Amino acid sequence: MKSGSTEIAIPSDIFQKWHRIVDLLASIMRVPSAVVCKLEPPHYTHYKVVSSSNSEGNPFPAGDVFAMDIGTFCETVIKNRAPLLVPNALEDDQWRQAPEIKTGMVSYLGLPVVWPDGRMFGTICVLDDKTNRYSDLYQELLAHCRDVLETDLQMLVRTSDELHTLQIELAHANRIATLGQLSASIAHELNQPLTGVMANCSTCMRMMTSEPQDLRGAQEAIRRTMRDGDRATQVVSRLRALFTNKAPVLERVDLNEAAREIVALSIGEIQNSRATLRSEFASDLPPAAADRVQLQQVVLNLLRNALDAMVTVEDRPREILIKTEREEDGSLRLSVMDAGIGFDPHSPDKLFEPFFSTKHAGMGVGLAVSRSIIENHHGRLWATLNDDLGATFSFSVPCFREEAPTPVSLPEMDCT
Ligand SMILES: Nc1ncnc2c1ncn2[C@@H]1O[C@H](COP(=O)(O)OP(=O)(O)O)[C@@H](O)[C@H]1O
Ligand SMILES: [Mg+2]
Repeated sequence: MKSGSTEIAIPSDIFQKWHRIVDLLASIMRVPSAVVCKLEPPHYTHYKVVSSSNSEGNPFPAGDVFAMDIGTFCETVIKNRAPLLVPNALEDDQWRQAPEIKTGMVSYLGLPVVWPDGRMFGTICVLDDKTNRYSDLYQELLAHCRDVLETDLQMLVRTSDELHTLQIELAHANRIATLGQLSASIAHELNQPLTGVMANCSTCMRMMTSEPQDLRGAQEAIRRTMRDGDRATQVVSRLRALFTNKAPVLERVDLNEAAREIVALSIGEIQNSRATLRSEFASDLPPAAADRVQLQQVVLNLLRNALDAMVTVEDRPREILIKTEREEDGSLRLSVMDAGIGFDPHSPDKLFEPFFSTKHAGMGVGLAVSRSIIENHHGRLWATLNDDLGATFSFSVPCFREEAPTPVSLPEMDCT
């Protein structure tokens, strides 16, 4: 878990696995109920059943929520951070009032489950409707299942930390690549004040050399010169602020893996856009010769554009298909297909022009930057309209050749 309040979401495939674990526990131990409970953020005043066995007589369906102040078995395990074995609550003074008794469950064996940073995650437990002392073997089995859960949590935290690092790298790469396009516009912006400086200086010169001298007019021309000079300085400092460059390096990149990371990174954005994403990754893809972070930046740009293109779509599912495949010439292709609004079929190349955007707050550099990245990889990036609705943006890059010396520096980006 990240430090602070945000909690890592548990993906559905992990929940499926846990579901299978509790099913197995219930059937091996022959008990009506085996569950995994999770302490719920943000206040941790409740816990929730997140996996529950399908066994007969199980009174705790997944989704049940319990307050942390009613004295349940799981509440006790969580608070004490310690295992709990209650063979029969009805015969135990301490447990005679346990709320679970009302559900018919009188016996309990549960273990705490913790996040890698030591914070409490919840419990894994089994319950029975009759006296049960749970043999040593059963207790060992439950401990192993708890270990599986904790390993899953460790893996989730690691992935999430890696994604966080990747996010920072991408943000950095984005700034660098955007620089290429921005400097073109900055040069344009510089031209304007410099032309002003020249014009004002010549006016000033004329006024000072005229008979009689027009000192007031000359003063005004100098004031305008200073204003234009100041504007030029501002443009230059904006450029300087953006300028931290690093030569891209070609290496072996698993395109599927790189794309998967971007998909994982974008899950939140996809969900917020009420879209779904399907992937078809070719299984026998050779490595690409690429700068991993730059390539991921392109995938991210395409994915974001696909989501943007579906914002107004209400009459059909907002679906994205991300696909990798091998081209006939041996290069690798990645395409992002959406069900969005599409584009004007007469001028597909316009989309790739710097600063072309049809969006209210669009900068119009995503595709231009992406194309220049892909072309620096000796690849191609293009757009087609789908047969039915929406568009597909694809790029292809060469695959990595063993004989190629590594790493190889890419040519500097074309900034004109
Ligand atoms: N998936 C897509 N479907 C339809 N149009 C798209 C798609 N991706 C990009 N475009 C068009 O290309 C333009 C330029 O895209 P981009 O360079 O990424 O800039 P921005 O996203 O800031 O507008 C977009 O404004 C949009 O008109
Ligand atoms: Mg964009």
